[in-house]
Amino acid sequence: MGSVRIAVFVISVSSWFAPLLLLTTACPYNSIFSFGDSLADTGNLYLISPSDHCLSPPYGQTFFHHPSGRCSDGRLIVDFIAEWLGIPLLKPYLAMKKSGGLEDWNAERGVNFAVAGATALDSSFFEERGIPIPYNYSLSVQLNWFKEFLHAFCNSSNDCHEVVANSLFLMGEIGGNDFNYPLFQRRSIVEFKTYVPHVINAIASAANELIDLGARTLMVPGNLPLGCSAIYLTMYETMDKNQYDQDGCLKWLNEFAKDYNQKLQTEINRLQELHPYANIIYADYYNAALSLYNHPTNFGFTGLKICCGMGGLYNYNESVNCGNPGAIACDDPSQCIGWDGVHLTEAAYRLIAQGLINGPYSRPQFNTLCFLNVSSAHFRSLI
Ligand SMILES: *[C@@H]1O[C@H](CO)[C@@H](O)[C@H](O)[C@H]1NC(C)=O
Ligand SMILES: *[C@@H]1O[C@H](CO)[C@@H](O)[C@H](O)[C@H]1NC(C)=O
Ligand SMILES: *[C@@H]1O[C@H](CO)[C@@H](O)[C@H](O)[C@H]1NC(C)=O
Repeated sequence: MGSVRIAVFVISVSSWFAPLLLLTTACPYNSIFSFGDSLADTGNLYLISPSDHCLSPPYGQTFFHHPSGRCSDGRLIVDFIAEWLGIPLLKPYLAMKKSGGLEDWNAERGVNFAVAGATALDSSFFEERGIPIPYNYSLSVQLNWFKEFLHAFCNSSNDCHEVVANSLFLMGEIGGNDFNYPLFQRRSIVEFKTYVPHVINAIASAANELIDLGARTLMVPGNLPLGCSAIYLTMYETMDKNQYDQDGCLKWLNEFAKDYNQKLQTEINRLQELHPYANIIYADYYNAALSLYNHPTNFGFTGLKICCGMGGLYNYNESVNCGNPGAIACDDPSQCIGWDGVHLTEAAYRLIAQGLINGPYSRPQFNTLCFLNVSSAHFRSLI
């Protein structure tokens, strides 16, 4: 077994940019259950608030050719993971709920509970601190939806527990908005740093609850390099050159995200010790995205300027957001990392997903968990 593990590692590190043909046959997951915010929402907010700005053209122009409820020009990380596991793109839970039944929904292949704008913490946490939150679709609300779903699903399926045990649970990204809302309000970093333990607690207790409900593989992403987002580069622009790193990103914000991710990983390690029969994978969105900002031209990207916006150093203007009149999308979104100032392009999400699934940006490495479950005969045939 040990030598198999090493062989897999060598293959994957040397070729993680290659198409992921091997995975579809080697990964043991039959379904994905997804929680989170706009980085993972595949249409829940669309059903709640169709006037939201992610829901009008040019959102969706690259892949779906119409707005799909996704905050990007095309597919998200969760879509690429699904494709590579041979799982249909995840349907939003609220569409399923609205239809009144699970029939025709392929529920055994997974469901998406993520809502754009969602926070890890309940909205009351922010209200108590004078920070208005547009809606209450926190992690605990999404978890309640999952329990509601499971109840109905187990009523109609004899092997629902097996489905849950063989699913990949994608726990986010969630928690980014818990810092975005105070950042939009220019709250001090001293203040929102005090939110960190609360956010991590919320994510950890959701993970614990899912494990109690039968989940066996969880992937928990960290935060993106916030200091490279056009919205913050514009809001917090400064003449002080020392505040920028070699990629032109804001150091203080990237340091904050890195520190948060470090604490999240410590908690994940603690959870893993607590539940040795489960696999809890840390998804390093931060370094996967940073690798693009470090060497944009290697990937055909132009740098920090976003695709869809209106003017300025980063093509971002908060009064002319993508999706609103006046904002224009660039000719080729695949040349940009950033799409609308907050969210990334399909091209960037694809590379990040590749780096997680086939590359070095998941711990333990996602690939090794896949191959460990196939017979060594099958494995030899792949070589
Ligand atoms: C948000 O949802 C949670 C979970 O359902 C609930 O406990 C909380 O009271 C709600 N908060 C508000 C302000 O509606
Ligand atoms: C469970 O299934 C039965 C029979 O199909 C149905 O009558 C009942 O309403 C279902 N209950 C729930 C909670 O879905
Ligand atoms: C942002 O757009 C508004 C409306 O078009 C314009 O008045 C303003 O000057 C723009 N701001 C910047 C910094 O370009």
